[in-house]
Amino acid sequence: MGLKKVVEKRLRYDITANSLAETQAFAKKFAAELRPGDVLALYGDLGAGKTLLVKAICRALHTDEEPTSPTFTIINEYHAPDDLLVYHFDFYRIEHSEELVNLGLEEYFYNAHICFIEWPEKIAGHLPPTHYDIHLTFVENQPQARKIRVYRSDNPR
Ligand SMILES: Nc1ncnc2c1ncn2[C@@H]1O[C@H](COP(=O)(O)OP(=O)(O)O)[C@@H](O)[C@H]1O
Ligand SMILES: [Mg+2]
Repeated sequence: MGLKKVVEKRLRYDITANSLAETQAFAKKFAAELRPGDVLALYGDLGAGKTLLVKAICRALHTDEEPTSPTFTIINEYHAPDDLLVYHFDFYRIEHSEELVNLGLEEYFYNAHICFIEWPEKIAGHLPPTHYDIHLTFVENQPQARKIRVYRSDNPR
């Protein structure tokens, strides 16, 4: 026994979406589970569907704007009903993690906002202990299909 915080990482979903519509249907179902304060890290190559999944989840959350790939911005902010704020980070262009110091990431992560993070590899070690990891991968010879795996890291109940 010690004071060290124990976080368990559990596989929550392991599915193959065979079409865009199936990815969108999954997003709708998954969005219903999300709570204020949730942080979601999205992993996958360019074109794997990270932004698309964020768009589909945000549609289900009824945000005021449809997410776009933040090309020149690192952070996009959307508003959903009940004063819910949704932040969408894309760290693709970050080359040095020092660039992130001034963003005050902890302010976003430890709050009642929902945060989506594309290219979380760039901030490895800065994710809060409680978060989702979502892995999107291509399926060979099926350009319209994607494998979606979702893990939740959380304190054991
Ligand atoms: N089953 C699917 N799920 C998600 N995206 C799909 C699927 N099939 C095809 N796509 C296409 O893949 C592309 C994903 O692009 P995007 O979400 O911008 O990727 P990323 O943000 O990971 O770079 C979109 O053009 C989308 O229409
Ligand atoms: Mg993207």
